[in-house]
Amino acid sequence: MTFEHVLDLLRSYRTKEGEQVLFLLAQDTMESIYNCVLNSGARACLELGTGLGGTTCVIAAALDELGGGRVTTVDMLVREPIGVDVLAQHTGLTQYIEVISDPVGYNWHLGEMINRQTGKGTCAPCLDFCFLDGAHEWGPDALATFLVAKLLRPGSWLVLDDLDFKLRGCQPGWKTVFADRTDRELDAFQVDRVFNLVLRQHPDFGEFTVSDGGRTGWARKKSPDPAPWYPSGLVLDPITLDWREPFAASDVVEQSQCSDGLTVTKQDTAVSLRATRNDPNFIVPDSVCKDRPIDVLSLRLRLVAPTTETLQVFWIDGLGHPFNEKQSIRAKIAASDDWHDLMIRINGSDKPRPVHAIRLDLTDGPSSLLLESMSIGGWHRTSASGRSCRWR
Ligand SMILES: C[S@@+](CC[C@H](N)C(=O)[O-])C[C@H]1O[C@@H](n2cnc3c(N)ncnc32)[C@H](O)[C@@H]1O
Repeated sequence: MTFEHVLDLLRSYRTKEGEQVLFLLAQDTMESIYNCVLNSGARACLELGTGLGGTTCVIAAALDELGGGRVTTVDMLVREPIGVDVLAQHTGLTQYIEVISDPVGYNWHLGEMINRQTGKGTCAPCLDFCFLDGAHEWGPDALATFLVAKLLRPGSWLVLDDLDFKLRGCQPGWKTVFADRTDRELDAFQVDRVFNLVLRQHPDFGEFTVSDGGRTGWARKKSPDPAPWYPSGLVLDPITLDWREPFAASDVVEQSQCSDGLTVTKQDTAVSLRATRNDPNFIVPDSVCKDRPIDVLSLRLRLVAPTTETLQVFWIDGLGHPFNEKQSIRAKIAASDDWHDLMIRINGSDKPRPVHAIRLDLTDGPSSLLLESMSIGGWHRTSASGRSCRWR
C-alpha cells in the first residue's frame, strides 16, 4: 500500500458519530518512517508506544508494499473505543500488525524478547527497525534504547520521536498528570538527552541524523554495508563521502541570486550575510549543482548575531517541483566565536535524482552570519538499483 493511500485511509477515518478523532504524527515524519522501512527492506519492525496506532498502520503499509513482514507495537494502555485494532481493520492491514498490550511497560517486553533471543550468554539480534515514541522520560526511554540496541540487526535504524518535547505544558492537563514531577523533570528535553547521552555515545551506532526541524533523531546500527536509504536531515557526525567538491564562500555568493533583505559583503576569507528581515535567501549558482545527484551539502559558518537563527536549505531535484517546504531542511544554529560545520543530507537518498538548484534562507532574521565555505558531495551510485552505494 502506498504512503498516500494509507494516509488517505487514516485521515478519512471517522467514528460512528462522524467525529474525526485521530492523532497522527507530522506527515513528513510518517513519510520518512514509511520510506525507511520500505527502502531498507525492514521486515521485523517494532514500535514502542502505540498510541492510537496511526504510525503502526503506516509501517504496516510499507510492509505490505514490501510483500511481507510484521510490525509489533507495544503500549501499556489499550485505547478504546478507537485504537490500533480499529485502525488496522479500517486500513485492511491487520495481517502485518501484532499488538502487545503490557501494563508494566515496554521495557518488560524488551526484557522478555532479550531473554528469548539469548543463547550461550549472547543476545541474537532479530529486529530491522524500531520507532521509540512512548514515555518521553529519561528513565524508561534510556533503558528502552539500551535494551532495543541489543535486538537490532546491523544496518537497522532506530528512530526517536520528539527530541524537542518536555513535560511542562505538553498537554492541557499536564499539571495534574505530572503533579509528582520536579521542575528538573518537567523542564528537561528528556528524549533529546536519551538521543545525545545514550544513543550517540553508544559504540554500536552511527549515522546520527536529526530531521523534521529537530524533532526526530535517527541512528543506524553499525554495519559494513552502506544503507540503501538515509533520512534527509542534519547529519550530526562526520560521514565518509565518495566525492566532495569545495567552494570558497566568496565565489559562491558573488555569483548567487540574492533576494531583497540580504546584504552580502566580503570579510577576509569569508562573506558576511546580513539579513535585515526574516526569510531573505540566496540561490546557489548553477556552477555548484551542475545537475548532478548531491547527497550532502556542507556549510562552514558562524552566526554572529542574534543568539540563534534558523537556516532553511531548499533544493530542486529531478522531480521538477519548484522550491517547496517538503524539499527543505531547517537547522537551528547558535551564535559562536568559532566556525561551525553544518552537514545537511539533502535529496532523500533512495533515488539518484540530480539536484538543479539549492537555496538558503535565513528564516528568523534580522541576523548576521559569516559563511566561509561550502561543499557538496555524495556517494557514487549504482544505476541498476537506483540506490546509493559507496566505493569499497
Ligand atoms: C505519543 S503516544 C504514541 C504515538 C504513536 N507512536 C503514533 O505515532 O501515533 C505515546 C504512547 O506511549 C505509551 N507509553 C508511555 N510510556 C510507556 C511505557 N513505559 N511502556 C509502554 N507504553 C508506554 C502511552 O500509553 C502512549 O500511548
